Amino acid sequence: MTEHSSRIKFGSKFGIVAAAAGSAVGLGNIWKFPYEAGQNGGGAFLLIYILCVLLFGLPIMVSELVIGRRAHANVSGAFRQLSGTNHWAMVGLLGVITAFLILGFYFVVAGWSLEYVYQAVANAFERKTPMQLSQAFSDFSTDTFRPLFWTTIFICCTAFVLLAGVKKGIERTSKILMPFLIFILILLCVRSVTMPNGNEGLKFFFAPDFSKITPTVILSALGQAFFSLSLGMGCMITYGSYIRKDNNLTKTALHVTSVDTLIAILAGTAIFPAVFSLGINPAQGPKLVFVTLPSVFSHMPGGYICAILFFLLLAIAALTSTISLQEVITAYVSEEFHWQRKKVIVVSSLVLIVLSSLCSLSLGIGSHYTIGGKTLFDFFDFTTSKFLMPLGGFLISIFIGWFYKADEVKDELGNHGKLPVKLFSVYIFLMRFFVPLAILLIFLNELGTFS
Ligand code: PFF
Repeated sequence: MTEHSSRIKFGSKFGIVAAAAGSAVGLGNIWKFPYEAGQNGGGAFLLIYILCVLLFGLPIMVSELVIGRRAHANVSGAFRQLSGTNHWAMVGLLGVITAFLILGFYFVVAGWSLEYVYQAVANAFERKTPMQLSQAFSDFSTDTFRPLFWTTIFICCTAFVLLAGVKKGIERTSKILMPFLIFILILLCVRSVTMPNGNEGLKFFFAPDFSKITPTVILSALGQAFFSLSLGMGCMITYGSYIRKDNNLTKTALHVTSVDTLIAILAGTAIFPAVFSLGINPAQGPKLVFVTLPSVFSHMPGGYICAILFFLLLAIAALTSTISLQEVITAYVSEEFHWQRKKVIVVSSLVLIVLSSLCSLSLGIGSHYTIGGKTLFDFFDFTTSKFLMPLGGFLISIFIGWFYKADEVKDELGNHGKLPVKLFSVYIFLMRFFVPLAILLIFLNELGTFS
């Protein structure tokens, strides 16, 4: 068998969307998006975020799927194959490093979601004030052993699904989850919006105050769009390589982007009205969701069951994302260095246990070890979203816009002439000029070039 035909492929059309959406939808939508919005001016952030999704996210997602499916290889192999040079393979290596750094802190937060399933089952949120919930979260997240326990369990779950194989593991898990998660988020929105003073939260989240738009808000929204859509590090390239030749890539990208954005907006709608109703500080950062939602559950009929279901779904949503992140590493090492998949999964999981443990400890006993004033957890979060992923997006736009032939891209998008390719000139314009220039300007500004 040739290399091409022996690679595993995703099955049904819904399976492809579900797996890619499974990667995109995760802690980024439900944990990170609300707190970023809370810290960056609410409506102003939402507006810039949506613009970033449309102008950067969508065209880069299309490009990554094209690169992956065209080359049928891992992220590095794909660049090497399509460019014919080894230099571009370095972009792939950058993606693999980014995957390690993201997983370092992502597994910690995923572990928190498991602790919250446990607490929900134990009915630990009942009759607690937001202040008490906030204290309980701080006590837990800065503890030495408890978060490590859950993080390790989460890493083992991810390894288990990966060992079961791409198609069976990823597709099946993702397919069941998504509709269920949307349903429970809608329930939460209804409860939150009808809380006293909930309007204030809706106003904060949906009515943009233009004076709040600053370069920091723009960089945060850009980074969040990359993070939430799993872009700029080869995840969608790797998934693209498992997509069949007859799939409509543009539609897949549109569906994934829409579902991902919808879920982020639902999460914001579930959180901000309750934040304002309960007098919680919207800008308190990573603990926002873990303080607000337990308060909402303790104020709603059936809250006990909903809390268990919600945190379980959050953990599963995180799982479909960690699977995709670790798949970037697995495909890369197994194809580039000819290791068995099983060996890569076991070794990378061990490395990740160490990395995540350090991240978790950096919030508690290790908090005085900082890099540029940031704990290891914050440093990994900051460098990946606000630097490495936009940098990856920049390099992808240079590759597609300037290096690879536009005709080839069009051929892949049109399934070799079988599908009409609409708005191709808009797409190429964005990839050639807008995306690289805008990212460059945002970076230069961050470096203080214009001040
Ligand atoms: N998009 C995921 C989320 O929003 O939680 C995080 C993520 C997954 C980032 C996969 C990058 C990636 F390759």
